[in-house]
Amino acid sequence: MSFPDYADFWEGRYRSAGDGYLFGTAANHFLAGQAGRFGAGQRVLSVADGEGRNSVWLAEQGCEVTAVELSGLALERAAKLARGRHVAVDFVQADIFHWDWPQAAFDAVVGIFIQFAGPAERPRLFAGMKGAVKPGGILVLQGYTPKQLEYKTGGPSAVENLYTEAQLRGEFDGWEIEHLLDHEDIVAEGSGHVGRSALIDLVARRPL
Ligand SMILES: C[S@@+](CC[C@H](N)C(=O)[O-])C[C@H]1O[C@@H](n2cnc3c(N)ncnc32)[C@H](O)[C@@H]1O
Repeated sequence: MSFPDYADFWEGRYRSAGDGYLFGTAANHFLAGQAGRFGAGQRVLSVADGEGRNSVWLAEQGCEVTAVELSGLALERAAKLARGRHVAVDFVQADIFHWDWPQAAFDAVVGIFIQFAGPAERPRLFAGMKGAVKPGGILVLQGYTPKQLEYKTGGPSAVENLYTEAQLRGEFDGWEIEHLLDHEDIVAEGSGHVGRSALIDLVARRPL
């Protein structure tokens, strides 16, 4: 898919949620489980943040949060969520494949369900995310494994967009892998992610 096709695709998906939030308003379960890693004054980037559930939660932990996202509709909902929860987030509308990524600027970079990038785009996306982490900072990622194609409860239908443990170890070669878990869980995130899911979680630390 090319831009603006994928912009229209995501706008349409968010529109299909009507007045609701496609992925809900509660933070992603894995991210919330990492609460001990986030605290006051940390700078955090949430990549392809969607409707703000993760960036708003990060701001509630006291972090200074930047959220980058393509969809204008998702960003409107995200701004409303932040207002309602009385936190500030720096929302940026951008296509991350054509974004001037900040360099070594964040204590943590978070990517939750960002598997719209296939093998052709993923190196650029991961390079941008990795470069944005300060030395000694962390990158937090959750996605689906190929087994998810049996469940069809969320995520892309292209197997090459999904992650395996070996692939993520390769992507983060030279980083300290603090957490890498391939597992199954029942997910309930709005109407967008519902049911048994084959997930993979990663926390990797950039070397000093
Ligand atoms: C599955 S959703 C996940 C949203 C959010 N991370 C969450 O967990 O709720 C994928 C998100 O990626 C965004 N996205 C897709 N392509 C993008 C791009 N090229 N640049 C920025 N955001 C993009 C979509 O608009 C959508 O919000």
